[in-house]
Amino acid sequence: MKIKFEIKKVKDIKAEAVASFIFEDMAEPKLQWLNTLFKGNLDVLIESKDFKGAAEEVNLLYVTGDIRTQRLLVVGLGKSKDITLEKLRNAYAMASKKFNALKLSSVGFEFPDLTMIKGILNFSISDIVQAISEGVFLSQYHYKKYVSKDTSVSLDEISFFTDSPKFIKEINESLKNSRMICDAVLLARDLGNEPSNNLTPSKFADFVKKSSSKTNYTVTIFDEKKIKQLEMGGIVGVSQGSSNFPRFLILQYFGRPKSEKPVILVGKGVTFDSGGISLKPSAGMESMKMDMCGAAAVVGTFEAVSKLRLKLNLIGLIPAVENMPSGTAMRPGDIIKSYSGTTIEVDNTDAEGRLILADALDYAANYKPKAVLDIATLTGAAVVCFGHTCAGIMGTDTDLAKKIFEAGEKTNERVWELPLYAEYEKLMKSEVADIKNIGPPREAGTILGGIFLKKFAGEKYPWLHIDVAGTAMVPAEPAEYIPKDATGFGVRLFVEFLRKFNSN
Ligand code: BES
Ligand code: ZN
Ligand code: ZN
Repeated sequence: MKIKFEIKKVKDIKAEAVASFIFEDMAEPKLQWLNTLFKGNLDVLIESKDFKGAAEEVNLLYVTGDIRTQRLLVVGLGKSKDITLEKLRNAYAMASKKFNALKLSSVGFEFPDLTMIKGILNFSISDIVQAISEGVFLSQYHYKKYVSKDTSVSLDEISFFTDSPKFIKEINESLKNSRMICDAVLLARDLGNEPSNNLTPSKFADFVKKSSSKTNYTVTIFDEKKIKQLEMGGIVGVSQGSSNFPRFLILQYFGRPKSEKPVILVGKGVTFDSGGISLKPSAGMESMKMDMCGAAAVVGTFEAVSKLRLKLNLIGLIPAVENMPSGTAMRPGDIIKSYSGTTIEVDNTDAEGRLILADALDYAANYKPKAVLDIATLTGAAVVCFGHTCAGIMGTDTDLAKKIFEAGEKTNERVWELPLYAEYEKLMKSEVADIKNIGPPREAGTILGGIFLKKFAGEKYPWLHIDVAGTAMVPAEPAEYIPKDATGFGVRLFVEFLRKFNSN
């Protein structure tokens, strides 16, 4: 995909099609202006009053300009006072997909009045341009790796344009950064969608290693021997039923002197979750190839952060396992011991994510981190609670929760906090070990996942848990720029959070 930014009028863009974006309250003068540029080609549209500029309204016209532009897509943005970054993402994604349907490859997207939007939204020009370009870039995703004759089309040459010479530097910079961030989101989606036969823990580790060598972060991989030697009992226990051995990945990015304490991201990397001996029902089990979307979000974040060269130190911890039933699998009732020595009664082998995260959260303390955030497709209960609209957060630090919340509102990777009241701890008490891995059935499932993890993150560092079971993998397109299946949720959220963290 080639991207350029041009200071030109819509009629001077050399492309198969151009899209112009129109606010409802300014539709009339804008259409008149376009009509003058295109020498009366919009006469009929204007007379018909068919196009109002409402959000999600699109209208394709065939026009003649100076350079013969063949197609003009007018796209509504709704009332200017109601504009949001998310509306911009969706409007530009909708236009992009309309162009895809026409099988076009070279197209132009006009920027709306950026100064005006900045005034309404109180976001920077760079934020607005990022949202606009995210709509375009992220809408072009198709997972067709294994389709022999892929007929899906993507935009090839994209021009963003405006006739105003203002903000050239900000726009160019923002388009470049947005491209890096979006590429990282697409990578996270690809990892999530990859079938488990081709993405075992070791293949996952190899992939990340290879990917890291192209940028400036490093990866250390612990194999099954090392994991056993370190007594990471959660990872050993969950993986022991599978012939695909576990891996523990440590990603490192230094944007500051190594002596400076890092932020740590922990991602659940269950490459397939059958449930183990507490086997899941077969309906829908195929979606459990995406049970490593937390890990994928961490990898995506490293890709983006290292390319953006953010000025902070970042560590990524990814326990990667396959949860399978077999003669060697962990049994309900087994007692295992986490890396720090906490004993866990495993009453349900399908509550495996928390067992591998326990080791990673224990291990995180070795770095004396500034903050630890874990991201995991942890509980079906999060889907019951939030649907596919937002992720659940829980933790021990209000400031961390507030900052992630703000990053969520801006990126529209939204989060909502659930309480970790002390009363819930009783429900996870074991009579034979320090804690058990499930609580009573159908009771506060997402919160109890958080309560369990808190036992390991504890008071050792400021900590936040993000349950993305509902948002990282979705059965239907949640927005114009987000496809079904793996969404890459978490990458834009973390990057936004870390950019702010970086500048504070
Ligand atoms: N990977 C699942 C959670 C999940 C469910 C993610 C649906 C995405 C969509 C997790 O390992 C799991 O099975 N959790 C159990 C926990 C229970 C046994 C306490 C669940 O949610 O049923
Ligand atoms: Zn499970
Ligand atoms: Zn799982």
